Amino acid sequence: LKFFENRGHKIIPSSSLIPENDPSVLFTTAGMQQFKNYYTDSKKAIKDFGDLNVTTVQKCIRTGDIDEVGDNTHLTFFEMLGNFSFGGYSRRKAIEYAHDFIVKELCLEISYVTFFKGNENVQKDEESEKIWKEIGIEDIREEGEDVFWGPTGDSGPCGPTTEIYCKNSDGQDVEIWNIVFNEYFCNGSREKLNKGEATLKKLDILGIDTGMGLERLVTVVQKKKNIYETDLFNNEITKDERIVADHIKAALFIISEGVTPSNTGRGYVLRRLI
Ligand code: SER
Repeated sequence: LKFFENRGHKIIPSSSLIPENDPSVLFTTAGMQQFKNYYTDSKKAIKDFGDLNVTTVQKCIRTGDIDEVGDNTHLTFFEMLGNFSFGGYSRRKAIEYAHDFIVKELCLEISYVTFFKGNENVQKDEESEKIWKEIGIEDIREEGEDVFWGPTGDSGPCGPTTEIYCKNSDGQDVEIWNIVFNEYFCNGSREKLNKGEATLKKLDILGIDTGMGLERLVTVVQKKKNIYETDLFNNEITKDERIVADHIKAALFIISEGVTPSNTGRGYVLRRLI
C-alpha cells in the first residue's frame, strides 16, 4: 500500500466480501469488484476518491478453484493486493510499477511473464510484449484465453492481462501478479462471451486492474514451497489438513459478514465449506 501511495495512489479499504453493487455475484472475488462502475465511468473516481488511482488489500472468496485447494497455491479465502487506475496512467506505467515493486523493492527475480496473443475480437497485446522486452525480461510468453480476464458476474469491464511468475523454493513457477488492462465492457458473462453470445465494446478510458495474491507473494518472499508453509498458516500440515485450514478460514470470514449457514445462496456456500 505504501509503495503505491508513494506513487500517487489513494489507499482505499477492502470492501465487504458481499458485493454492494453487483447482485450477480455471491461474493467478492477480486479487488476490482468494488470499482466496476469506475471503469465504465458511470461513477467518478475523482469525485469519490479525490484521485484516478487507488490501491487496496481486498478480502476475496473464490469457489471456482475449490477443487484445487490443498495444492501449493490455491485458497478459497485470500487477500488480494492491487493497484487500480481509471484513466490515470498507461500500460507502460502499470508494467513498470509492477516490475519495480517485484525486482527493486522486494529484490525477487521474475521467472517469466505472459501477454495475450489475441483472438477474433481482440488484438494481440503487442504493446505489453514490447514493454517487457524493453525492461529486459527475457522469457515473455504469448498465451490464449487464460490471459484475457473477466468480466465478473453478469457483465462488466474486462480485458487482456499480463501475468508475472516467480519461482517458489522448489523451483516451480507461481503466478503472483495479474495486471489487467480493462479496455472493454462485456454485455454478458464470461461463459456467454466464450460461447459468442456476448459482445465487447471498447471503453472510453484505459482501466488498470492488478491483483497480486498476498499468500503467493509471501510464499516467494519467505522462500517456501507453498502457501501453507508461510507465516500466514505457519504449519507443516498434510493435504487434508490444508483443506480444513482453508475452509475454516473462509467460513470465518464469511460468518464475519453476517452470513449464516442455509440451503441457498451465500449461506449454502458457507454450509458446504463447514
Ligand atoms: N481482476 C484481476 C484478478 O482478479 C486482477 O486484479 O486477478
